[in-house]
Amino acid sequence: MIYLDNSATTRPFDSVIDVMDKSMREMYFNPSAAYKPAVDVDRGMRACRKLIAAQLGAQEDEIFFTSGGTESDNLAILGYAETLHGGGENFVCSAIEHPAVSETIRRVERLGIEVRVLPIDRRGLVDLDAARDVIDENTALVSCMQVSNETGAIQPIEALSALAHGISPRVRVHVDGVQGFMRVPMRMGKMGVDMYALSGHKIHGPKGVGALAVRRGVRLAPQMTGGGQEKNLRSGTYNAPAILGLGQAVKEMAGRHEDVERMRAMKAHLWALLSAMDGVRVNGPMPGEADAAPHILSVSFDGVRGEVMRNALEGAGVLVSTGSACASHKQKVSQTLRSMGLTGEQADGTIRISLGLMNTMDEMDEAAVQTAKMAALLAKYRRR
Ligand SMILES: Cc1ncc(COP(=O)(O)O)c(C=O)c1O
Repeated sequence: MIYLDNSATTRPFDSVIDVMDKSMREMYFNPSAAYKPAVDVDRGMRACRKLIAAQLGAQEDEIFFTSGGTESDNLAILGYAETLHGGGENFVCSAIEHPAVSETIRRVERLGIEVRVLPIDRRGLVDLDAARDVIDENTALVSCMQVSNETGAIQPIEALSALAHGISPRVRVHVDGVQGFMRVPMRMGKMGVDMYALSGHKIHGPKGVGALAVRRGVRLAPQMTGGGQEKNLRSGTYNAPAILGLGQAVKEMAGRHEDVERMRAMKAHLWALLSAMDGVRVNGPMPGEADAAPHILSVSFDGVRGEVMRNALEGAGVLVSTGSACASHKQKVSQTLRSMGLTGEQADGTIRISLGLMNTMDEMDEAAVQTAKMAALLAKYRRR
């Protein structure tokens, strides 16, 4: 089997599994307790905070553990909305946000906050010229993903933040970094980011764990109240095995810059092979361009439905997806691709190939061979 759906989730590193196994078998103590073994667990979690903070150019006390990207996005958006006092504010998000953001931001409308959407251009990037018309002096939050989960387009966060701060000095910037963290650099201070959401299972770590980095001075209302863990911002007994597993994944990824570059080269190689076929297109920046993430490739085929191609590839032992994992259950046409100007038919004819650190060049060769074979087979049934 060739697994090319790493944007849906990744296989954990062996070392992550080992750390979690040890945590559950031997270090199962509640890190909030006062005895030594519990304090040791807490110390391990602290090391994880430090590792994440170092990646983001943040401080240890700016990192808050959550149950994953979705919760981090919810906490950032709803938590910030609840601190406002109905002064005619608006929240702005891009047209291509993951539902963890787009569905959550809709909920703030109920709090009397207007929601505005930033258009994107044909390459799948936020349109900064259009942003000037959307953002105004009452914009309290701009939310934009770091990397599109569907096209791999790296968004111009630094420029967007600078533009937003130029228009609305009190604006806060939230970035859903779930698809970017540890594959595309992020320094929160330099990029003007106030809140950054990340998730463990996209970086060969465990599922059900993530973090929200919150710059000092940004106030959020807790969304999960209870025992007051995480400095009262996020209550609930710590999922210590998962947090320690996340820390191990960050540690591994931090030492594997060369592997990330290898992944970028694999993606370029795969596209070089696929582009030799007729009627195939990349959606988003071309592999190799500065704003193309190293791991996500969105490819459309003329006259072939993405769903059919995905099923055919699965039969040939290659696992890809038609879009994001959550959208594929609903079988909706991708809003990301539609807002980039693709027709419904083009969007429907798309697969997403996403790489992880465990893929190999040989797998790219084999995936390309199988894709060409399936495309030739399916061309016989092509819509006319
Ligand atoms: C861009 C983006 N944001 C948020 C999420 C949700 O993260 P999690 O699965 O950790 O809740 C995902 C997951 O696919 C994602 O791709």
